Amino acid sequence: MPAMEIIILPTPAEVGRLAARKIAQVVTRRPEAVVGLATGSSPMAIYAELAAQVRSGTLDARRVRGVALDEYVGIPAEHPESYRSVITRQVTEPLGLDPGNVFVPDGRATDIPAACAAYEAAIRGLGGVDIQILGIGANGHIGFNEPTSSFASRTRFFDSPEQVPTHCLTQGLGTIMDAHELLLVAQGEAKAAAIAAAVEGPVTSICPGSILQFHPEATVVIDETAAADLQLVDYYKHTCANKPDWQRF
Ligand code: GLP
Repeated sequence: MPAMEIIILPTPAEVGRLAARKIAQVVTRRPEAVVGLATGSSPMAIYAELAAQVRSGTLDARRVRGVALDEYVGIPAEHPESYRSVITRQVTEPLGLDPGNVFVPDGRATDIPAACAAYEAAIRGLGGVDIQILGIGANGHIGFNEPTSSFASRTRFFDSPEQVPTHCLTQGLGTIMDAHELLLVAQGEAKAAAIAAAVEGPVTSICPGSILQFHPEATVVIDETAAADLQLVDYYKHTCANKPDWQRF
């Protein structure tokens, strides 16, 4: 039955390991899978675990296509802090992806709206995203979709007050929602309020992550501290512990 699945694990390391298993399962089923790549600290353990699987020969990711969630505007692609560089270091190289199969919005484009449209077209050209990895900001943002972002938004230019550089390109919430599956990871108490709002709060643009409640295949993998503000912790744990084998990953 389509529903948001909440998985609570004792440690951040286990969050990374289980989320990586989910990605590995998708890639094993479909070696040319299109994987949506978030940056930030939250997904780093996933990438490290997948890289370890590639090194040990248990996973072959060479045919995987990667699609970044967002990118800074005005930053050269080769700058070490560009999301293009971060993804090259954390994903493309360690997992052995073909760099030609890794797509990142063009933050240096002179015509930004055209770059946004081109990015949407690139995702469509790949046949859509099979599984999108997401982190969540303490204020509930996903990608660079800050509070009050339109739930229908497509890839666009965003003026983000907290970021340096201050402008970025981001997949919109509507773009993110088109992915076949969503996988959101969060660790640490700083994320507890955002997770509670996203999972159990009203669906509202003040918490962009709450749109996940409308997605038929969303999985939220968090550690105990990020789960601290959830009301139904016992229910989520019970459901998880009693899952039939065919639902496990
Ligand atoms: C940034 C990124 C988001 C990310 C968020 C949380 O704003 N654009 O994609 O999810 O921060 O980052 P972290 O995972 O480091 O907590």
